[in-house]
Amino acid sequence: MKTPRVTARAHTNIALVKYWGKRDEDLIIPMNGSLSLTLDEFYTETTVQFDSKQQTDHLILDGVTQPTTRVTPFLDIIRNQAGITAGAVVTSTNHVPTAAGLASSASAYAALAAAASKAAGLTLNRQDLSRLARRGSGSATRSVFGGFVEWQAGTNDATSYAVPIDEHPTWPIRMVTVVVDRAEKKIGSRAGMQTVVKTSPFYQEWVKKAQADLAAIKSAIAAHDIQQTGAIAESNAMAMHALNLTATPHFTYFTAGSLTAMHCVEELRAKGIPCYYTMDAGPNVKVLCEEQHVAAILTALQAHFDKNDLLVAHPGPGVQIIREN
Ligand code: DP6
Repeated sequence: MKTPRVTARAHTNIALVKYWGKRDEDLIIPMNGSLSLTLDEFYTETTVQFDSKQQTDHLILDGVTQPTTRVTPFLDIIRNQAGITAGAVVTSTNHVPTAAGLASSASAYAALAAAASKAAGLTLNRQDLSRLARRGSGSATRSVFGGFVEWQAGTNDATSYAVPIDEHPTWPIRMVTVVVDRAEKKIGSRAGMQTVVKTSPFYQEWVKKAQADLAAIKSAIAAHDIQQTGAIAESNAMAMHALNLTATPHFTYFTAGSLTAMHCVEELRAKGIPCYYTMDAGPNVKVLCEEQHVAAILTALQAHFDKNDLLVAHPGPGVQIIREN
């Protein structure tokens, strides 16, 4: 028995209010709700076929065979739901300009969830697809939808999923990525957030702040208010990174290059250009702004960074099935 071969495409997303800590490690239920912008520039395409002749799963990522340690338990969830036992062949390609080290588990698991569930014969609505993607990687929950997306924390598997806030924003919002370092991160997000939840004395304060930031940023986005949206996103990101510095052992994703990029954004703002930074579990800096200011921001950043390391993204779409045969 061979199922159809299904290919899905999912775009990565950058959180403006971060997910940083789980209340349930196995089901990936977050401690707080989060909100992100899905980006058009960076995406993953994944093809899945189940084949009863396959004893085990096979994963080929960007042309290279990889261990299936994380993928097999995820596919098991789908096999259980679909009542099949066949192994899968998973072929995945990351489309990230100039191999910038921006490949993300968000686009990876959103694409895998869509392709594998469809290949297995499941018909999931987007809410259920979002719940499924969550089991692979928390941030993948949000990549099921395009534009601005909220992940409602919920308290269990049934209630923790993403909802679209504005899938096709008419607001000319942009995200400039500053590729500070292409190297793989030393402390992955999974381990980083675990350490913080267990050891930071400020963790409960973070949960309160994230909840308040989430409510406030939704109003700011609805009003297309770049000052408010940007200020909340920047403050939320810095609070997340402050948690890392207060963990035991403490750690940070900041590098000298990250600080250079952040100072540059602050200088631009002092000159009256509304732009705001955010950072995730790595040194790269993302700058939120409106289209009209992109040129000035790129010019200022080019004083410190190669222009090939500055990537401008627009809001991108949710996950799509692009081929089936
Ligand atoms: C800093 O989704 O990679 O990007 O659920 O353990 O796979 P797991 O973590 P992951 O964490 C993302 C953390 C973040 C913030 C965010 O995207 O909200």
